[in-house]
Amino acid sequence: MPGKNSGSTKPPIRLKIQQQIFEFAVDEGIELADALKHHGYDFDDLVYEESHQWDVPRPKPLIDYKTKASGIPLVSFFTGCGGMDIGFEAAGYKHIAAFEFNELFCKTLRKNRPNWKVFGPPTHSGDVSNIAEVIETLEEIVPPNFNGVFAGGPPCQPFSIASNQRFHKSGENFKRIGFKNETDGNLLFDYVNIVKHFRPTCFLIENVPGLRDLDGGEQLSEAIKELINVGYKVDSPLVLNAADFGVPQFRERLFVIGSRNGKSPTYPAPMEMHFGSGSVLSRNQGKANNTETRIHKLNSVQRYCGLDYGQRDQLGRVDRLNPRIPSKTVIAGGTNGGGRSHLHPEIPRTLSVRECARLQTFPDEYTFVGSTARQFTQVGNAVPPVLAAQLGLAIASSVFRAS
Ligand SMILES: C[S@@+](CC[C@H](N)C(=O)[O-])C[C@H]1O[C@@H](n2cnc3c(N)ncnc32)[C@H](O)[C@@H]1O
Repeated sequence: MPGKNSGSTKPPIRLKIQQQIFEFAVDEGIELADALKHHGYDFDDLVYEESHQWDVPRPKPLIDYKTKASGIPLVSFFTGCGGMDIGFEAAGYKHIAAFEFNELFCKTLRKNRPNWKVFGPPTHSGDVSNIAEVIETLEEIVPPNFNGVFAGGPPCQPFSIASNQRFHKSGENFKRIGFKNETDGNLLFDYVNIVKHFRPTCFLIENVPGLRDLDGGEQLSEAIKELINVGYKVDSPLVLNAADFGVPQFRERLFVIGSRNGKSPTYPAPMEMHFGSGSVLSRNQGKANNTETRIHKLNSVQRYCGLDYGQRDQLGRVDRLNPRIPSKTVIAGGTNGGGRSHLHPEIPRTLSVRECARLQTFPDEYTFVGSTARQFTQVGNAVPPVLAAQLGLAIASSVFRAS
């Protein structure tokens, strides 16, 4: 049974009764959800056959990274649902503008931050590949030699190993052609050109580690070379694992930081300890939004029930999380699917969007709009806000410190 962090308000179902309910569902030929309801239970009352006592320390929430406002202005590109942005916001940055071409993601941004200037549908294309439009829009708000930060993660699809495993190399969908991809692959250079136009004091590029390895690193080096040529001091690209920065999830992302005020940008220093997934996943999800969970079939739940911590259900290819170690990477899923979320460490069901958002360190009050599938996409695409906050703090103290 879970330890102190379970947050449970009532004891979970007893294994023997659970077994009887499974048999009842089979005998009556009804869905597991109905059989549970008939007995006064729901999916969140279910238990695994094996569970152990555990108690893990909780990581610092985003609010604890809140810093006296430095007021350093931030403009973000490919903003998604704003994971990176709310991290920088916590680190004291002043949000100036966001460019995102997906209307739904813009809705999430506008719902959570009605005061932000979100450039995206339906009022703006938000399309970063339309450089002329982005420049015209931004020239109204930021001056040349902008004394602030541009941050952007051009979509990782073309470089992501996870996304390529789904496609056969010779197939039309094979996307690991990176920059040869006529649309997405060139977004990095669109972003570079926008940086070159406004010459912000600091820029940040975020991507999956595949960007560094693509074409032997040639294309990323080319992008960096272009930025060095216009006066940026660029630190070597670095892959950070979010688990080393107080995020209860193993998640590797590549970052490149450049500055053009003579000061060397630095990356945040890793922490000594990791936080287990169980630290943010209780049995009771509380009153937050986006807590809906999947209505599993009986045979799926029966397979899940027999898994131990960290074990994989081979058929559904989902893993039961180990509460004592960081979660496996929270993924966005395909364009049509909602993403496969992992199995809760103590409840034999997949995680809700909220639980994934907790593993990503989003505060509970941050709401994701759209269908459940699209909510998973937004959460799975994001930079964990707590990691972003530390990047923001490191940039503020290295690049923007008073000398
Ligand atoms: C990896 S996600 C960014 C996640 C974000 N940094 C966060 O922390 O939440 C990439 C985003 O780029 C957006 N995008 C893709 N192509 C775009 C384009 N041409 N113009 C603007 N946004 C684009 C996608 O809709 C997606 O939201």
